[in-house]
Amino acid sequence: MASITLMILAVILCSRTSGATSRGGLFEASAVTEKHEQWMARYHRAYSDETEKTNRFEIFKKNLEFVERHNMNTNMTYKLDVNQFSDLTDEEFRVRYTGLVVPEDVLKISSSDSDKKVSFKHENVSDTGESMDWRQEGAVTPVKNQGHCGVCWAFSAVAAVEGITKIAKGELLSLSEQQLLDCSRDFNQGCAGGIMSKAFEYIIKNQGITTEDNYPYQESQQTCSSTRPVAATISGYETLPRDDEKSLLKAVSKQPVSVAINGHEAAFKQYRGGIFDGDCGTQLTHAVTIVGYGMSEEGTKYWLLKNSWGQTWGENGYMRIKRDAELPEGMCGLARLAFYPLA
Ligand SMILES: *[C@@H]1O[C@H](CO)[C@@H](O)[C@H](O)[C@H]1NC(C)=O
Ligand SMILES: *[C@@H]1O[C@H](CO)[C@@H](O)[C@H](O)[C@H]1NC(C)=O
Repeated sequence: MASITLMILAVILCSRTSGATSRGGLFEASAVTEKHEQWMARYHRAYSDETEKTNRFEIFKKNLEFVERHNMNTNMTYKLDVNQFSDLTDEEFRVRYTGLVVPEDVLKISSSDSDKKVSFKHENVSDTGESMDWRQEGAVTPVKNQGHCGVCWAFSAVAAVEGITKIAKGELLSLSEQQLLDCSRDFNQGCAGGIMSKAFEYIIKNQGITTEDNYPYQESQQTCSSTRPVAATISGYETLPRDDEKSLLKAVSKQPVSVAINGHEAAFKQYRGGIFDGDCGTQLTHAVTIVGYGMSEEGTKYWLLKNSWGQTWGENGYMRIKRDAELPEGMCGLARLAFYPLA
């Protein structure tokens, strides 16, 4: 007992000391405590007891230091900020707020040697233009919020179906993620994760999907209700060739595309704005929808991602992320696994 207490004390003393000398007191404990209190008020956070509060404070402090250290670096193309996720570790965050699970057969298809020969509807598109923003074409609904449920796969799929429905039929409808959460159960595991291709397969088999209003989001899995009227249909879906941003560009020039991404690490989690090119691995943990692309004034090419973490994350719920990064799989693996529905 005594030795453990001593050890803990030693750790606290060491981190205090190094904090004060190397960073000039910027992350001084009392200032961080105050920031944590302000943050708790802003995000309506209440902790069950003092132990929980202390644990959460330590995590918050780490996240805050990460954010502040990043933002001090003036030559970065993006900024971070503490947000509603800043008292969670990256792993807790991954479990609660992402939710991509990639089935083995899907991985096999996308990693076969014949990748480059995969044929897809938009393969012969030649003029992709400088930029595209499907929001300006009226093909993107307002940013939604998956909340505390690992159902990114449904939000990603729905945004792509909303896009093609507007493009093909001229009408922008907000469609139901809850229907997918409750009813798309072949492989998909509700809030425990899933994949967009299986969601498309469900919509095809069900001969459509209903609207958000008819089947509103509830943040947890319920019994499937199949009696609600169909509002949009798709005839199929396609998988883009793996690790190929050129094919991705052709597809996004024609419609919003559902992609898998590494979206749970500290920088991604606390992205505030700018063109993201931060540290992230290639483990595919999250799903988003690419709804455009362009180039910044400084000449940096980017993709425009629609996320499902509400409007307080990133640029009003969107992220601009580096396009044609010198990585085969794209920034954060975004070109590894991409799908789009067919009208
Ligand atoms: C600015 O960017 C350069 C090149 O990427 C890098 O080597 C340098 O360390 C950065 N500056 C700072 C202050 O981090
Ligand atoms: C693209 O062009 C090639 C060569 O002309 C043709 O064989 C192929 O069918 C076209 N693909 C599509 C999807 O139209």
